Amino acid sequence: MKRKSGIGLENVQAVYGGPEGDLWELVMGQQIHIGGFKSSMDLAEKAGIGAGLAGVDLCCCNGAGMRFLVRFRGVAKMTGVDATPTVVERGRQRCKAEGLEGKIQFVLADATASGLPSGCADFVWGEDAWCYVVDKARLIAEAARIVKPGGTIAFTDWIEGRAMTDREADRFLTFMKFPNVQDLKGYGDLLKSSGCEVKMAVDTGRFAPYVDLYLGMLDMQLTYDALKIIGFDTNLMGAMAGEMQFMQGLAHAGKIAQGLFVARKVK
Ligand SMILES: C[S@@+](CC[C@H](N)C(=O)[O-])C[C@H]1O[C@@H](n2cnc3c(N)ncnc32)[C@H](O)[C@@H]1O
Repeated sequence: MKRKSGIGLENVQAVYGGPEGDLWELVMGQQIHIGGFKSSMDLAEKAGIGAGLAGVDLCCCNGAGMRFLVRFRGVAKMTGVDATPTVVERGRQRCKAEGLEGKIQFVLADATASGLPSGCADFVWGEDAWCYVVDKARLIAEAARIVKPGGTIAFTDWIEGRAMTDREADRFLTFMKFPNVQDLKGYGDLLKSSGCEVKMAVDTGRFAPYVDLYLGMLDMQLTYDALKIIGFDTNLMGAMAGEMQFMQGLAHAGKIAQGLFVARKVK
């Protein structure tokens, strides 16, 4: 697994509590993951997430994934865990504004130590966020602890595909503020070590076309809005675009990808 030392939870909280997080939301919408609604529906279908279930979204951000699950999959109750106060507060407000506060609650906590009771969820959910977590073994163990025996862990995440060089990995991890990046086999091994059976571990193939889309939107439509978020700093905008283009190259070379995982906790 490629790593970058010196990146921790405080860096992630700074991103999602400030302009960088707002920039991601501008480009991706409230569902801050590759593929938005389509990706969530794909994951829910593959994992069999449906009516009446109770779930936990680890690293839920503003809760858009939970609102999706309640509205479009008939999920009865969701608990979201996130460590950034700004997004949790925003999430609570958005759930209230949509009349969903009775079905969705938020917990401000580190996802590796959520404080939730063992076996409290029919499923644990995550979308393109676990890449920010330093200790992925602890995170998967926490997901396996929270889910009931026989329950499901379903998540997508940014992963390494074909091997990056050390220099590429260093630049990618620095820009994204990821402490490390897993791969299909690595997550599969962690799930098995936490007592889960891996049902699916695949590359969705979405990363490259979606990074093209995001760059196109920033260049062709959203330039002013993006500049406003970063204080009209055109140099910073240029530098960020350069890093996004670098990621675009990695994605088209198959070196970074969106992985999709479905696992069942063994009884
Ligand atoms: C890309 S956003 C998540 C997007 C969300 N899953 C969605 O699909 O809309 C990443 C989120 O992970 C949260 N996060 C990162 N590391 C965390 C940790 N160790 N514990 C809890 N939350 C964490 C950040 O605060 C941020 O809100």
